Amino acid sequence: MEKIKIENLYKVFGKNTKRVFPLIEKNYDKEEILKKTGCTIGVNNVSFEVEDGEFFVVMGLSGSGKSTLIRCLNRLIKPTKGSVYIDGKDIAKCDEESLIEIRRKKMSMVFQNFALFPHRTILSNVEYGLEVQGIDEETRKEKSLEALNLVGLKDYASSKPDELSGGMQQRVGLARALATDPDILLMDEAFSALDPLIRKDMQDELLELQAKMKKTIVFITHDLNEALKLGDRIAIMKDGVIEQIGTPEEILTNPNSKYVKDFVEDVDRTKVLTASSIMQKPNALLDYKDGPNVAVRFMSEEGIASLYVVDKNRILKGIVKIEDATNLVKKQSKQINEIIDKDVPIVDKDTPMEDLLPMAKVAKYPLAVVNENNKLLGIIKRSTIIGGILGEEE
Ligand SMILES: Nc1ncnc2c1ncn2[C@@H]1O[C@H](COP(=O)(O)OP(=O)(O)O)[C@@H](O)[C@H]1O
Ligand SMILES: [Mg+2]
Repeated sequence: MEKIKIENLYKVFGKNTKRVFPLIEKNYDKEEILKKTGCTIGVNNVSFEVEDGEFFVVMGLSGSGKSTLIRCLNRLIKPTKGSVYIDGKDIAKCDEESLIEIRRKKMSMVFQNFALFPHRTILSNVEYGLEVQGIDEETRKEKSLEALNLVGLKDYASSKPDELSGGMQQRVGLARALATDPDILLMDEAFSALDPLIRKDMQDELLELQAKMKKTIVFITHDLNEALKLGDRIAIMKDGVIEQIGTPEEILTNPNSKYVKDFVEDVDRTKVLTASSIMQKPNALLDYKDGPNVAVRFMSEEGIASLYVVDKNRILKGIVKIEDATNLVKKQSKQINEIIDKDVPIVDKDTPMEDLLPMAKVAKYPLAVVNENNKLLGIIKRSTIIGGILGEEE
């Protein structure tokens, strides 16, 4: 049997929401209905099922109704109309007592801005959900350590939240949700606030975890790339309505509306690798005010032959080579200006990969990626470009 089944679900915010339904029947859109009635449609006639063990993603722009929908699943929001069945039981209709039971035992939720208790240890933060359930101390500790281990944070059990990075704190949120061993994991933009690289790691880890755990996951995101990567199936939402449900493959190859099609084309564009997507942090940078001794020291420490020079606002000034810097040291000169080579290969951050290759071939130095103000954002080594191309062809 399906784990979750939603049938003709509506959530309307506002007063006297009954007035809204005849207008929905007449195909008035969300904006017109708001004008006429002052009511906002959060979820509009949504129906779908999620299989046991499925990774189901709901994708849509901000305001499309994703959070409202997921909150109807654990009834943090009471639907205006329609049914939500969890294991065959309609939670839109069940009494408070069984609702609490279902919420505690069957599902857990991870939010975007997950708040940890600052004065509690990480372990004790994870224990929270179990504590609420009245589970004894020993079991609590055991389950929480297990959950921390799952998310790779066992060593931080006795740390305090402010000792952890944003990504790690989000992991603690996941651990707290997992500690109660729920059947269903509800994740509302859980990764959306993370830096791109950390976010990617979290996605990979969640997929790895899911391969082991086989939970039923409802994951919300506004990012189609994230949806395509994670979802067994994706539901695309707009103005409270589900536009399309399908596997990533179906969504990409068979978008059933202009709206979805536009989205998919956007993704194709972002898939093109650009300078900013492959650049790296430079191992070292030289401050314009530094002298040749510092330059030589940085380069020998990092084992590099040249070093980009920036001012205090990170505006690119040029590059110095190790032999020039060494000569300057011998001459006992401090004038780094003399040896700054201004003829450096500069690329805009949005330069596509295919244009980088010919540049990299003739460049004497790593490419400097800059923004419109000539601020140095990162560098690209030749090997990265060649490697990137090969990686693409695999
Ligand atoms: N408590 C509320 N009262 C009134 N309108 C709300 C409330 N919560 C959400 N909405 C409206 O419902 C729509 C869907 O919001 P939401 O579910 O938060 O979207 P999403 O999570 O996709 O960004 C929006 O138009 C929003 O303004
Ligand atoms: Mg939301």
